[in-house]
Amino acid sequence: MTGKTEKLLSILKLQPVVPVLIVDDAKSAVGLAKALVAGGLRAIEITMRTPAALNAVKAVAAEVEGANVGAGTILNARDWEAAVKAGSTFIVSPGVTPGVLAAAKDSSVPLLPGAATASEVMTLREAGYDVMKFFPAEQAGGAAYLKALSSPLAGTLFCPTGGISLKNANDYLSLPNVVCVGGSWVAPKELVAAGDWAGITKLASEAFALKA
Ligand code: 3PG
Repeated sequence: MTGKTEKLLSILKLQPVVPVLIVDDAKSAVGLAKALVAGGLRAIEITMRTPAALNAVKAVAAEVEGANVGAGTILNARDWEAAVKAGSTFIVSPGVTPGVLAAAKDSSVPLLPGAATASEVMTLREAGYDVMKFFPAEQAGGAAYLKALSSPLAGTLFCPTGGISLKNANDYLSLPNVVCVGGSWVAPKELVAAGDWAGITKLASEAFALKA
């Protein structure tokens, strides 16, 4: 196992659930991240899907003690560079391209690359990855599908993301090839808009209590 994989695993193993955030306002990202950390969720993925996302990563990295902020939805080398400059400690991509893999190779920041089929997993294995995001988890076939990959693709660990909630998280977390799950359910839009940080901390605590 490479040093970068170890680094990635040490972040993913902090908790059973990695919050996946779409942030509209960098300032509220700090309150949101503090609320998640207070509930035990220290590794936080901020997706690069909004104009505020990079500033949100910067603000959380600088201001939220105990947070490990990563950037998600990295689609190319340009996104990679900006996300790392902003202070991301890990990078997540929904799938991979040669450009993303090249950026990852040149960087000391670990990548959690997305895969949804046996061929994609095998291609990533050949590129040196044995920890991946299974995306979009529910839509691609869910826990039963991921379980079916565990024997032929033994030695690969996954963080499934997409359509996961408190209700079905255990279906994944109980699989031997799952290290954690990712999901947006711990930061619902309405609670974020209302600045209901206590409500978010409650959801985070419930997620933290799940067994990885
Ligand atoms: C995403 O693509 O936004 C993540 O996979 C999170 O998915 P979710 O909103 O279904 O949890």
